[in-house]
Amino acid sequence: MLKGKNIILGISGGIAAYKSVVLLRQLVKGGAQVQVVMTPNAREFIQPVTLSSLSQRPVVTEFFSANTGEWHSHVALGEWADAMIVAPATASTLAKMANGVADNMLVTTYLSARCPVFVAPAMDLDMMAHPTTARNLATLAADGVHIIEPETGELASGLSGRGRMEEPERIAAVLDAFFASDGPLAGKKVLITAGPTYERIDPVRFIGNFSTGKMGYAIAEEAASRGAEVTLVSGPTALSVSSPRIRRVDVESAREMLAAAQEAFETADIAIMTAAVADYAPAHVFDSKIKREKAEFDSIELVKNPDIAATLGRAKRPGQVLVGFALETDHAVANGRDKLARKNLDMIVVNSLADKGAGFGTDTNKISIISAGSDTPADYPLKSKKAVAADILDFIATL
Ligand code: CTP
Repeated sequence: MLKGKNIILGISGGIAAYKSVVLLRQLVKGGAQVQVVMTPNAREFIQPVTLSSLSQRPVVTEFFSANTGEWHSHVALGEWADAMIVAPATASTLAKMANGVADNMLVTTYLSARCPVFVAPAMDLDMMAHPTTARNLATLAADGVHIIEPETGELASGLSGRGRMEEPERIAAVLDAFFASDGPLAGKKVLITAGPTYERIDPVRFIGNFSTGKMGYAIAEEAASRGAEVTLVSGPTALSVSSPRIRRVDVESAREMLAAAQEAFETADIAIMTAAVADYAPAHVFDSKIKREKAEFDSIELVKNPDIAATLGRAKRPGQVLVGFALETDHAVANGRDKLARKNLDMIVVNSLADKGAGFGTDTNKISIISAGSDTPADYPLKSKKAVAADILDFIATL
C-alpha cells in the first residue's frame, strides 16, 4: 500500500533517530518515495549521508543550502507529500508543532503539510510523563495528528518506563494500514483461523500438531494491507502480527476456537480456515499431573472435536465466502473436493505434504485451489507464503 506514495520522514534530535534508518528502509522497501527532513540537532545523532543514500534524495535540514544558495521550499514539500511521519518526535519538536513555532525546516514543513501527519514520540520517561508533553500531544491529536504511542521499556538513559519510540516495523505497518483504508478489501471483514489447537490432557500436557500458523498469519497481514478488518483467531503460536487492522484473539483448544470463530463469523464477509484443528480431545482433563509411577498407561479416551469449518458452513448466509484448507498426504485434490462439499465451502486451498517446501513450518507453500463452481483445480508453483496469501486473496476476489 506504500507503493508510489510520497512520504516526508521528519527526524528530530533524539537517540531513537538511529531507528529512523530502519524505518526509512522499510518505507523505501514498501515502494514509497521518501524525503527526509531533519532538525539541526538530529544531525548530531545520525549522518545525513546514510539517509540520503537510502532515500536516494538529498536530506533537507536548512532553509537554504549553504553551498548552492538554493532555497528549500517547505510549501512545495507539503504539497508533494501523501503523508508525513515525524519519528522520533522529541518533546521539543512536539511542543513546536503544537504551538506553530516555525523555526526549523521540519516544523515549517509540518505547518505547510496538508496531508495526514503521524508522530512517533520518543523521550525520557519524565519528559513523557510531564503535563506539558501530555498537553501538547492532546493539542496535536485535536488538530488531527495521528499519535503512534511510545512503548514502555528500557530507555537510552538506562531508566525504564514509557517513552521508547515504537519499533520501525510497527510504524511502517501503521502507515501501510492507513493507506490501505482505500484498498480493494476496504470495508470487508475477514475472519481467519490459524495455528494448531492444544487439547489438554493434564495441566502440563496436551495433544497438538506441528502447525506454526505461518500461512494464516501471512493471509491476515495480506488481507489487512488490502484494507480489510481482520479477526485472527489463533491457536498457540510464536508469531506476532504487525498490522493494526488485525484483531488477534488467542485461543487454545478447538472448542475455544469454535466459540471465537462463530462470534466473528456473524459479521464476516470472508472466513478463511487455515487452522490445523485437532480432530479429537481427551474426554476429561486430569486435574493434576499424571505421574509416571503407573506401570502402564492404559489409554486416554478421546472425543470428537467440533468441526469449525463445517459449523460455519451450516451457518453461512448468502454473500459470505467460506474458504477451507486441506493439507493432505495422498489424493490431495480428491480429498480436497470431498471436504469442499462436506463442509459447504466456497473454495478450498489444497497442499500436499508430498511437495517439497509445502506444509507446516516452511516459509513457502505450493497450492492448488478448488472452487465450488469449477471442475479443474487452479495449480500454482512453489512460492513464499506471502505470495501464496496474495494468490488466495486474488482468487477470493473472483468469487
Ligand atoms: N477444520 C476445522 N475444524 C476441525 C477440523 C478441520 O475448522 N475440527 C478445517 C480446517 O481449518 C481446514 C479444513 O477444515 O480448513 C480441513 O481440515 P482437515 O484437517 O484437512 O479436515 P478434516 O475434516 O479434519 O479431515 P481429515 O483430518 O480426515 O483429513
